[in-house]
Amino acid sequence: MVPKKCKRTAIAQWKFARRCIFFTTTVCIIPIILVFMVTTDQYVRAVRARKSYGKLQTEQTDYYTEVKTWDDVEKRNERRRNHLRKTCKLLGLNKVGNDSLHKPNPWEFLINKKYQLVWCNVFKAASTSWMYNFNILAGYNQKILDDVKQVPLSLARKRYPRPSAKELEEAIKNSLSFIIVRHPLERLLSAYRDKIQHSMPRTYHQKLGFQIVARYRSKADKTKLRKQRWPSFSEFVRYLLDTVKNKEPFDMHWAPITQFCTPCMFNFKFIAHTETLEEDQNYIIHQAGLEGIIKPEWRNRGKGITTEQINKYYSELTRTQILHLYNVYRYDFELFNYSLSGFIEVGKPDEDPSTLLSAINSKDPSI
Ligand SMILES: *[C@@H]1O[C@H](CO)[C@@H](O)[C@H](O)[C@H]1NC(C)=O
Ligand SMILES: *[C@@H]1O[C@H](CO)[C@@H](O)[C@H](O)[C@H]1NC(C)=O
Repeated sequence: MVPKKCKRTAIAQWKFARRCIFFTTTVCIIPIILVFMVTTDQYVRAVRARKSYGKLQTEQTDYYTEVKTWDDVEKRNERRRNHLRKTCKLLGLNKVGNDSLHKPNPWEFLINKKYQLVWCNVFKAASTSWMYNFNILAGYNQKILDDVKQVPLSLARKRYPRPSAKELEEAIKNSLSFIIVRHPLERLLSAYRDKIQHSMPRTYHQKLGFQIVARYRSKADKTKLRKQRWPSFSEFVRYLLDTVKNKEPFDMHWAPITQFCTPCMFNFKFIAHTETLEEDQNYIIHQAGLEGIIKPEWRNRGKGITTEQINKYYSELTRTQILHLYNVYRYDFELFNYSLSGFIEVGKPDEDPSTLLSAINSKDPSI
């Protein structure tokens, strides 16, 4: 016969053991599982999947109804157009002449007669998306557009031949004409990163990169950047400033918009900015009645330039170099109301302050 006392201790022991098991489960096993899930990405993936599902839902229902009303977008556009008109006049860019700034340049425009849409293609300013959209509007099917062997611009030019200035003027009269602009120095950095730093093997831009390195890399940097075959941003900018000084033509990826689209010569109805791209594109799509036909495409979306990247790359340049860049793009700055703030202060102070002064006083980047 087991004494009562012993029985009670047996029960107590069992209770204790149960508590122990409960305790180890909560304190040890759950965290271990959590750590396991996090390290193997299970947990993160579950959260991510839920999130993107939620986003898709809202995108489907609220796709075209942004926080801003169309009226707000229109008013902002009127401000931009007035600013452009006034500044064109102030800088004398509205007078027709023979040089590249004063000669209407229809070369980069695409005219879609069916949907009455006219666009000047500014590279590195949502151009991939809109090239895609124009190809959709031209009737190309998804399969062709997804084929990596097809060059979107070549496809587009088959259906949208380059117009003459006269054809363009006619088309603009009864179309929604638009241009997408971007901060000149952000656009330049984007072009550098895309075309020079991450150039595709055996392309024109990779070769150009090698040439820039051969010409501009100093002895000290040759040891420091031994493994880096592409030019640094600073080397690239030195090259760019020299081409301007030698009056060589610009590469289309970093040509100033003022030369590329001559915005003072054509009366754009809508001026979109990359800073407000989502609202502006939705407006264009709405206004042109394209809701069912194209969706705002977000290609290249992940390649936007962040403030950290601006700080990183522009801190490689001296302030004098940044001012020279301002001079190169000064009409783009003025016409589209951009400023040097956020860029110039990032630059390295110059060892010789007089170079900065002469850059301020000069309108010519060659000095
Ligand atoms: C432009 O050049 C043409 C011929 O080269 C000349 O006849 C014309 O007067 C020039 N126009 C202006 C505005 O300079
Ligand atoms: C130009 O930019 C400044 C500063 O960003 C802003 O306050 C002003 O309203 C802008 N002007 C126009 C016409 O958009």
